[in-house]
Amino acid sequence: MKKIFAANWKLFKTPQETRAFFQAFKEVANKATGDLVFFPSALCLEAASNSLQGTKIQFGAQNCFSQVQGAFTGENSAQTAKDMGAQYILIGHSERRQIFGETDAMIADKVALVQSLGLIPLLCIGETLNERESKHTYRILETQLQLGLAKADKAKPLVVAYEPVWAIGTGKVATQEQVAETHTDVQTILKGLGFSAPILYGGSVKPDNAAGLISQPHVSGFLVGGASLEVDSFIKIASV
Ligand code: PGA
Repeated sequence: MKKIFAANWKLFKTPQETRAFFQAFKEVANKATGDLVFFPSALCLEAASNSLQGTKIQFGAQNCFSQVQGAFTGENSAQTAKDMGAQYILIGHSERRQIFGETDAMIADKVALVQSLGLIPLLCIGETLNERESKHTYRILETQLQLGLAKADKAKPLVVAYEPVWAIGTGKVATQEQVAETHTDVQTILKGLGFSAPILYGGSVKPDNAAGLISQPHVSGFLVGGASLEVDSFIKIASV
């Protein structure tokens, strides 16, 4: 299966910085050993779309509302992202769950909408440190997948990202053993639910730990935050 290297830019970069990044990145993009997908902030999607025209580099929004239009002030439409050329929508990132109160039920509606539009949901799951230490990781991931995929179409594309909350933006990466064990669990849970999906790892992925992580079982690529903001570090990760 082809690997996927996804970049989550969160609330960083202006449209001008987005264009400058892609101008430099396009020079080195052919070194990547898998598909490349960028998630700029919503207000930079148009800059990304223009910059990436005519390339194989894909992009998507970091979130969307569960309806395509209506009286929903401040929300973003997956249909609009699609019209701009997006192929993916990131759903249920831990920052959405923790800071903005997204529930598994809201996430399930978003996954279903994204699939119905012919876009690919990149569904994020992951346990907190407390949950890992109290040995609840498997149960938490199972619940997030069960509920988050409750309305999903098994025949349509889906990508899952396992991102332990304690490893996101902390510099504290999961060990290769933890990644091997947890990705195997996620694969088993998905299979039990009738889904088959590439499973990306996310959480402090850097050029110096990427090679060790990508060689673990059921790791189909990465979702990278901090290290995706610079051309050099991201292409190093995407060329493992
Ligand atoms: P990080 O972020 O690589 O900066 O830890 C990953 C993510 O939030 O997707």
